[in-house]
Amino acid sequence: MIKEGDWVKIYFNERKWFVVRAMKGRELHTDEGIINLSDVLKAEYGGSVRTHLGVEALISKPSLEDIVFRAFRRKTQVIYPKDIASIIVRAGIGPGSRVVEAGTGSGVLTAFLAFYVRPNGEVYTYDISYGHQKIAKKNLRGLGLNVNVHFIIGDVRKTIHQKEVDAVILDLPDPWNAVKNVASSLRGGGRFVCFLPTYNQVEKAVEAIREAGFIHVESVELLERRIKAKRGETRPEFLMRGHTGFLVFSTKP
Ligand SMILES: C[S@@+](CC[C@H](N)C(=O)[O-])C[C@H]1O[C@@H](n2cnc3c(N)ncnc32)[C@H](O)[C@@H]1O
Repeated sequence: MIKEGDWVKIYFNERKWFVVRAMKGRELHTDEGIINLSDVLKAEYGGSVRTHLGVEALISKPSLEDIVFRAFRRKTQVIYPKDIASIIVRAGIGPGSRVVEAGTGSGVLTAFLAFYVRPNGEVYTYDISYGHQKIAKKNLRGLGLNVNVHFIIGDVRKTIHQKEVDAVILDLPDPWNAVKNVASSLRGGGRFVCFLPTYNQVEKAVEAIREAGFIHVESVELLERRIKAKRGETRPEFLMRGHTGFLVFSTKP
């Protein structure tokens, strides 16, 4: 059953769907008409509701990706799912991992880290901006994912307090200035990941990472191409997100 405050996906079609919280007395205004969100509380996942114009919408349970990318307030650039997936897998993040991250930004990567380290891992997220962290905190609270996240206002170029952590992930303009702190925060075998939008940043970061003695230094770009799948017409979509950023992976020996 859907309870007051639960996240729901209201789905008209592949291009038109919304992620909202089921709340008595609230409405969702769409170009298919208005949905009274009290009606959602009477429905079940897999069921449906109708707008005041009689258009049917399916009710389904949203994924973490749906909620984060449709409902999070964003004040910064964020990391996208294809890059997040690779970070999680290649940094070896799982239940019990202790992870340092900077900057928090809008908390998009933080939310996924918090989700995967549960139930007993910890995420220590640093940002120099109080305003950005305030938004990120509110975003994570809305998902109940703030429990094992430590929000720290601080500059990782100056200090990283945590020791023996399993992974450090930096999404900030000049990670090369934080490499020494990263090295002393990681345990042996710990993973270091940088997310960087430009080639110049990749070069500078890789030089600093190699100089600091990290091993398995690898820089990658991940491209995701959507396919229009229709009998007799299946082909790549004409438009794609051409660039998000590059990922630099390395390991402390
Ligand atoms: C692009 S945003 C991060 C977005 C985040 N990864 C997400 O997915 O929502 C970059 C953030 O890094 C923060 N930042 C920049 N330099 C920093 C530093 N030296 N230490 C900590 N945070 C820093 C900025 O304030 C900004 O919020």
